[in-house]
Amino acid sequence: MEALQIIGGNRLAGSVRVTGAKNSVLKLMAAALLAPGRTTLTEVPGILDVEIMGELLRRLGCAVELDLGHGRVSIDVPESLEHRADYDLVRRMRASITVLGPLLARCGVVDVALPGGDNIGSRGLDMHVSGLQRMGAEVTIEHGYLIASAPEGLHGASVWLDFPSVGATETILMAAVTAAGRTVIDNAAREPEIVDICQMLIDMGAHIDGAGTSTLEVEGVPSLRPVQHATVPDRIVTGTWAVAAAITGGDITIENARPEHLQIALDKLSTAGADVTEIDDGLHVRMDRRPAAVDIVTLPYPGFPTDLQPQFIALNAVAQGTALVTENLFEARFRFVHELVRLGADVQTEGHHALVRGRDQLSGAPVEATDIRAGAGLVLAGLVAEGVTSVHEVHHIDRGYAGFVDDLVRLGAQISRVPIPG
Ligand code: UD1
Repeated sequence: MEALQIIGGNRLAGSVRVTGAKNSVLKLMAAALLAPGRTTLTEVPGILDVEIMGELLRRLGCAVELDLGHGRVSIDVPESLEHRADYDLVRRMRASITVLGPLLARCGVVDVALPGGDNIGSRGLDMHVSGLQRMGAEVTIEHGYLIASAPEGLHGASVWLDFPSVGATETILMAAVTAAGRTVIDNAAREPEIVDICQMLIDMGAHIDGAGTSTLEVEGVPSLRPVQHATVPDRIVTGTWAVAAAITGGDITIENARPEHLQIALDKLSTAGADVTEIDDGLHVRMDRRPAAVDIVTLPYPGFPTDLQPQFIALNAVAQGTALVTENLFEARFRFVHELVRLGADVQTEGHHALVRGRDQLSGAPVEATDIRAGAGLVLAGLVAEGVTSVHEVHHIDRGYAGFVDDLVRLGAQISRVPIPG
């Protein structure tokens, strides 16, 4: 058991390179299941979740080579796959649910344990299920497993999502690419990670129109071929480094970043007083004053991302003024506020609103990461808190941030992993 120990007060300066997005690569690994043969992914982040997904694919019958030092994963997919995702893996990583669509398409049947995952709300699966049912699947829940079957194969359908769910869009998309006929997904998610998976599926031979819009039109094809694909850069990691520059009064060049994927968040940083400049292969963020408070409302893409909400609450906690933060996606995401308050932050929550009154100074304390992004938010707060902050439950952070501590040290932070006694 380890914690991250941070001595606050250092300004961060230098360059950091962002790798591929966690929220894309896990889905790309699942999409590989759709085509027998060897798929290779590059720009793969060296994070725990990639290892868990690798283990899941092995149990399904794939040979998986992880070369995370070089950001590469090769997946050899057999003609005949197993079709069960066990609870011990799904409970460690909710994104395991992503194999639902591809396995149903390939095997005609799939059993996936109902997920646990991040502690950020109820995270239902109703839209995944109703979409698959419209495509001809029968779905039951037995003994904690979601069992879907389509012995005659899936057929195209019109699917309207109540909400532009990222996961439901991916499940239905991956089920549709080899279904018989045409599927139209309305109110589809538009995240850059959806565009990335569409691009990979198109390269595999799928017929998809409308990637990045609210309507995805898919004409099913009989089979797909394996490909090599580079994962889209991680916009949430990019945003986390941008806030790190702003909160520490620092100066960070973020390489391999796509500023166009986080325009609203970058605009908020400019409003807070940061100097944000787009450069050739990324962006540059510099701050030379105390941040001004900025209001945030999380929404599906292209709105402000919920996965950057804790980092911006940390920024607001030391800003000049008061900010209102509204969380519209995950009801339990404010759980991390209780931890931030332990560092001296002045935050009041009421339903899905948080009122953050900026303090001149936070003070270091032991805190606990409740999910990946909460962990990132607490580290950022620790970087500016006076004295020592130790962030426990580090495994959450390891799930989403490759080489985080090394990068922070290189940028000038005083941070290290320390063993926890007992
Ligand atoms: C993905 C991301 C997560 C990000 C989120 C929103 C991955 C691995 N995770 O999560 O980091 O915060 O998108 O950008 O990519 N919902 C239902 N029924 C459904 C599906 C979703 O009620 O069938 C609800 C959820 O409970 C949640 C909201 O819709 O309140 C958003 O969920 P969704 O967009 O599906 O997020 P995830 O794919 O779980």
